[in-house]
Amino acid sequence: MNLQPASTEIANRAAAIVEDLKDIEGPLLPILHEIQEEFGHVPQEALPAIASGLNISRAEVYGVVSFYHDYRKQPAGRYVLKLCQAEACQSMGSDAVAAHLKRALGIDFHQTTADGAVTLEPVYCLGLCACSPAALLDDEVIGRIDADTVDEIVSAVRS
Ligand code: FES
Repeated sequence: MNLQPASTEIANRAAAIVEDLKDIEGPLLPILHEIQEEFGHVPQEALPAIASGLNISRAEVYGVVSFYHDYRKQPAGRYVLKLCQAEACQSMGSDAVAAHLKRALGIDFHQTTADGAVTLEPVYCLGLCACSPAALLDDEVIGRIDADTVDEIVSAVRS
C-alpha cells in the first residue's frame, strides 16, 4: 500500500498516543481527546491505529467519534465560535441568537463555513450565566451576545 507521507505521519503519531494511553481505565475517550488535541480533529487516518491498539473494530471507534459531537471528523475553521445553549442562556434568548448566527454564517451547529473561516459549536454552560447569553470565540469571552454582536463577529471572522 502506498500511503501519502501525511497519512503515515498521522498514523504514526496516533499510534504513539494509543501506546501511551491504552493501559489506562477506559482508554478510548482519553485517546480520542488527545488525538483531537494533537490534530485539531480526529483524522480518518488515526482510526486504524486506535482500533488495533485497543483491539476493537474501526467501526466501533468511528461510532464513538460520531456519537460525541465534541470530536470533530474534519479540521475546524480558523475560528471556533461556541454559543451557550444551556438553560440560563436559553432563558435570555440564546435560541434567537443561534438562529441569527446560523443564518448569517449559512451553517448549522457542528459545521464549518465553506471558506474555512469559522466552526460553530454549541456548549452547555460556560460559567458565564450572569452574562447570558454567552459565547466564546476561540479564547475570547463574549457576554450578552445579541444580533448586533453576531453581525460584528461574522464580519470580523470573515475579514
Ligand atoms: S448557561 Fe450559558 S453560561 Fe451558564
